[in-house]
Amino acid sequence: MFTGGADGNGHLPRPRRPRRGGHGGGGIGSPPGQGPSTVQPYPAAPPCTDYDMAYFKAYSHIGVHEEMLKDHVRTSTYRNAIMHHQDLISGKVVLDVGCGTGVLSIFCAFAGATRVYAVDASDIAIQAMEIVRENELSDKVVVLHGRIEDVNIEEKVDVIVSEWMGYMLLYESMLGSVIFARDKWLKPGGLILPSHASLYMAPITNSQRYHDSVYFWRDVYGIKMSSMMPLAKQCAFMEPSVETISGENVLTWPTVVSQVDCYTIQAQELETITATFKFTSMLQVLVISGTSKNP
Ligand SMILES: C[S@@+](CC[C@H](N)C(=O)[O-])C[C@H]1O[C@@H](n2cnc3c(N)ncnc32)[C@H](O)[C@@H]1O
Repeated sequence: MFTGGADGNGHLPRPRRPRRGGHGGGGIGSPPGQGPSTVQPYPAAPPCTDYDMAYFKAYSHIGVHEEMLKDHVRTSTYRNAIMHHQDLISGKVVLDVGCGTGVLSIFCAFAGATRVYAVDASDIAIQAMEIVRENELSDKVVVLHGRIEDVNIEEKVDVIVSEWMGYMLLYESMLGSVIFARDKWLKPGGLILPSHASLYMAPITNSQRYHDSVYFWRDVYGIKMSSMMPLAKQCAFMEPSVETISGENVLTWPTVVSQVDCYTIQAQELETITATFKFTSMLQVLVISGTSKNP
């Protein structure tokens, strides 16, 4: 959950917005100003909700962008992927869905794109315009400050690039906007980066975390509060938690619970994810009165 503060590891959490109920580019609709009888072959823009506004506001803060850019694995992997596809980007028109500071748009310009449409609904887009200007790329990178669902782009694009992946892959609910952009603006046979994504899941054990959240209640300033333990157990793991853990916490190999093909996935498929899985722990874990201890 986005709380606006740092997570347990001192990192700024990435914003999220609630799942979009049935919107996100699933339907075929009319552009603004045209009656419903004029059916257009692209999706209707979902309304911009208060949640969306709060989400975009969260992305106007410098901290979250600094955090993302300093994530070297993330940012350099995007740069490598863009450079790896240079032959498909050079001389082409690119759309960057959710450009933030414009970093991916600029990588695409470096890869030889003739034009890059860099779209962001957050006020960070204003900074992106400045960044593009100071890199003397204003003739190539066009920053559009608005929702991808609302902006007008003058042409169809050859490539879509987007960093839409949130916690648990889909937690940020941004993929719907990429699907919308794909259906509305991508030329047939165009390139999408990233093209595929996989969500893995693995069981973990974290006895320290359990101790801090549950056993804490045994003795609080010399006062017995064990009666709180059932409630603590109930509450401690109710919310998703973003934490860095070590390999020792992981009980067995991860399994794929969802695979996303960005070329074919439909917005309706994001409503729920169901998967059947079976794990067999590779560690022997001793269960003592509701807690686990590695022997
Ligand atoms: C995870 S950040 C990535 C920023 C940048 N591309 C990067 O890699 O550093 C996602 C960005 O997408 C923007 N965004 C999300 N949904 C959007 C939408 N529907 N229309 C426009 N911008 C959107 C957010 O405001 C945010 O700046």
